[in-house]
Amino acid sequence: MTGDSADTGRRCETLEAWTRKRFPAKKVAYRWSGQDFDSKDSLAFIGRNPKDRRKNLFIATGNSWNGITYGAIVGMLLSDMILGKENEWTRLYYPSRRMVKQSSISYPERSPKPQKLGLQGALQMAERLSKGQGMVFEIRGKGSMAFYRSEKGSLRSFSASCTHEGCTVTWNGSEGSFDCSCHGSRFSYRGKVVSSPANDDLKTVA
Ligand code: FES
Repeated sequence: MTGDSADTGRRCETLEAWTRKRFPAKKVAYRWSGQDFDSKDSLAFIGRNPKDRRKNLFIATGNSWNGITYGAIVGMLLSDMILGKENEWTRLYYPSRRMVKQSSISYPERSPKPQKLGLQGALQMAERLSKGQGMVFEIRGKGSMAFYRSEKGSLRSFSASCTHEGCTVTWNGSEGSFDCSCHGSRFSYRGKVVSSPANDDLKTVA
């Protein structure tokens, strides 16, 4: 899961063990992780784009982990709207509806907070990084910093502040990326943005 650095590898192993018990799997060809977009009330956004003055743009997003079910609902609802038929779900899924937070839903835990250290302590820890590994620290009085040791051995350092809205990214060791659990932005080990909503790379720190 994006931003869930501590658990991604373990979750893949659990999934693999579950699969091996039930299927004659031999080799795992690929592993990957993704993210689901969830609304505050856990219902999707389906309907006319509220900002579209010409009223001919429709949107369907925020499937809240239920994309297969919502795929059918979207087909039924949007086709009715396009054909000008009444549909009782229109208000329920309206993209600009007033949302009430669902308190009964348990969301996955956010990533653990990065270790807090002085600058020297963080640099010493970063020096010990193995090749292909990254780390994030909260540096007292200086904000957060991300480090990555390249396969060739050089140490790169970045600001760990996500360029979207400033949350702290975490190192995802399974995929070799810096991930932001706030809204799902991802950055490569070089600090390059690979997944929005962030548009800019992590700032390099000399
Ligand atoms: S603050 Fe990082 S994705 Fe929004």
